[in-house]
Amino acid sequence: MSMKFKNSLLVLPAALLLLSCGNNATIDEKSDDASKDVKEEKALSLMSTNCFVCHNPDMESETRVAPPMFKIREHYYDDETSRDEFIKEIVAFAMDPSEAKSIMPGAVNNFGLMPKTPFNEEDLKLIAGYIFENDLASDKWYSKWEKFQKDKDNSSSDLNYEELGRNIANQTKAELGKNLMAVIKRDGPAKAVDFCSTRAIPLTDSMSVVLNAKVKRVTDKARNPKNLANQEESAFIQELKVALLKGDKLKPKVTEVNGKILAYYPIETNDMCLKCHGTPNKTIVPATMAAIKNKYPNDKAIGYKSNEIRGIFVVEMNKKRN
Ligand code: HEC
Ligand code: HEC
Repeated sequence: MSMKFKNSLLVLPAALLLLSCGNNATIDEKSDDASKDVKEEKALSLMSTNCFVCHNPDMESETRVAPPMFKIREHYYDDETSRDEFIKEIVAFAMDPSEAKSIMPGAVNNFGLMPKTPFNEEDLKLIAGYIFENDLASDKWYSKWEKFQKDKDNSSSDLNYEELGRNIANQTKAELGKNLMAVIKRDGPAKAVDFCSTRAIPLTDSMSVVLNAKVKRVTDKARNPKNLANQEESAFIQELKVALLKGDKLKPKVTEVNGKILAYYPIETNDMCLKCHGTPNKTIVPATMAAIKNKYPNDKAIGYKSNEIRGIFVVEMNKKRN
């Protein structure tokens, strides 16, 4: 891996949570077994990239930052709950987590509130339906999960580039988000970046090997000048800003350059980002500001509010051979 790529990884830590999924796959409601399997597979795959990094199904996981999903199911599900109600409540919470909506005050206490992430609503419905239908605490489900993990590498070849790139970006984002959340809670925002960057490099390295891809984040207002967008990337960031102003849906973009596939995905701000990218003395406390100024004397990455375009993920993939 080149030095340039390594440096751009240092940025990833904070990125995490905000990538909009923009997944517009539609699943039709055929009832035959084959399409049910496809739907289940899709739901499990979405859950594995978007939820399990934090809601890890392995109980012995040492780095737990959220309750395992079967615990959540236990709280939201009983014999009286209808499928529709169950889905509605899970989706409502995940779209916009708040203490008012939480029915698990112990979890909020232990782990802090789940950070708001721009998940795709259709994806969440599929995930919630899957959780309703599958007893995630059973051995039967756990064997399915193990099989899924084994098959996963083979099946990724069926995805198109936009989906593949999104999986790569989402996995990176969720893993980094998990770490950022944990370290902010433990040490406060001023120390968070160093810690995250030590995890970001091994993680993204291993993905580069497995998936043959590279991931970086770039922006038009850089904290680290190494993350400044090039001309092509800047043009796409401007397009996203216009789309946001108009209230249009933010869509990713996939292009081919010199025989490589490049996929771009928007990175939006949420409240958590403002601890380090918001307004000094308001959302950024002086200790954090001092740490930032010290490391990045030419920092341009402040002054953001929530739900603005902070930059983009760029995923570079090799072309598949047909
Ligand atoms: C970055 C970590 C993270 C990711 C990713 C994440 N969650 Fe959470 N989630 C948490 C934490 C922490 C809690 C416990 C605190 C709370 O309840 O807010 C939680 C709690 C929940 C709850 C219980 C809410 C309550 O308190 O009643 C639901 C439902 C939930 N998550 C759904 C999801 C779904 C669905 C996904 C994937 C689409 C997901 N989460 C992805 C961190 C995460
Ligand atoms: C704990 C402080 C902190 C938090 C919270 C934080 N960031 Fe950052 N962010 C940084 C630092 C420090 C850098 C520069 C890292 C480097 O040197 O590569 C950075 C860099 C970035 C970059 C790369 C472009 C650049 O300016 O160098 C993006 C994009 C970004 N952050 C987005 C976000 C988003 C979106 C959130 C909220 C989910 C967020 N950050 C939360 C500290 C933070």
